[in-house]
Amino acid sequence: MLTQDELKTMVGQAALQYVVSGELVGVGTGSTVNKFIEALASLRDRIPGAVSSSEASTQRLRAVGIRVFDCNEVERLSVYVDGADEIDPRGYMIKGGGAALTREKIVAAQSDRFVCIADESKLVGTLGHFAVPVEVIPMAAQRIIRQFGALGGMAVVRQRDGVPLVTDNGQHIIDVSGLQIADPLGFESTVNQWPGVVTVGVFAHQKAHLCLLATHTGIRTLDFSAA
Ligand code: 5RP
Repeated sequence: MLTQDELKTMVGQAALQYVVSGELVGVGTGSTVNKFIEALASLRDRIPGAVSSSEASTQRLRAVGIRVFDCNEVERLSVYVDGADEIDPRGYMIKGGGAALTREKIVAAQSDRFVCIADESKLVGTLGHFAVPVEVIPMAAQRIIRQFGALGGMAVVRQRDGVPLVTDNGQHIIDVSGLQIADPLGFESTVNQWPGVVTVGVFAHQKAHLCLLATHTGIRTLDFSAA
């Protein structure tokens, strides 16, 4: 029986096959991506560098000798590799458990292919068991919490060390539980219109094209590009 850490290592290594020699790679955030960054170090002489979705990943990339480029220096990326908190059978995801959702969505939007790397516990029938992270402008937080309440959700401001967590963008995160998201595209579009919402952690418009799912019997590849 493999541990969850071993599953993450396995899928981090499996994602190397999607890295294009001579091209920049988009890099997400989280414990699974950290395994990908460790594996990517072996290819550092074959790629010019990476575009990163968080300060945390930037530090890790630099620590293994990979140059990090600003998003604005780059027009397109052929591939973006990132984890997920949940992924459904259509490739729609909940992301933002690591509070990096806004930059993750930006880098994903700039990439031709989103390769999601996850262990099999992340695959769900319907999104919503994991509380949906939403990055918000702090002065709008309480109104947005009430708006989610009207939809049947229970929203709280994410805390770290007893105070609201501050994202890389200087904003707050609210986590919304109790939702069953049957229409991820509609949900993402609706919540994105609410004043004060920076980014909602439903990735439907920027869904995965491919998911490498680490299982106890090996890597399962889910291809959503035709869906
Ligand atoms: C960070 C994310 C991560 O991809 C997501 O939280 C999964 O993380 P992990 O690989 O640690 O389970 O969206 O904002």
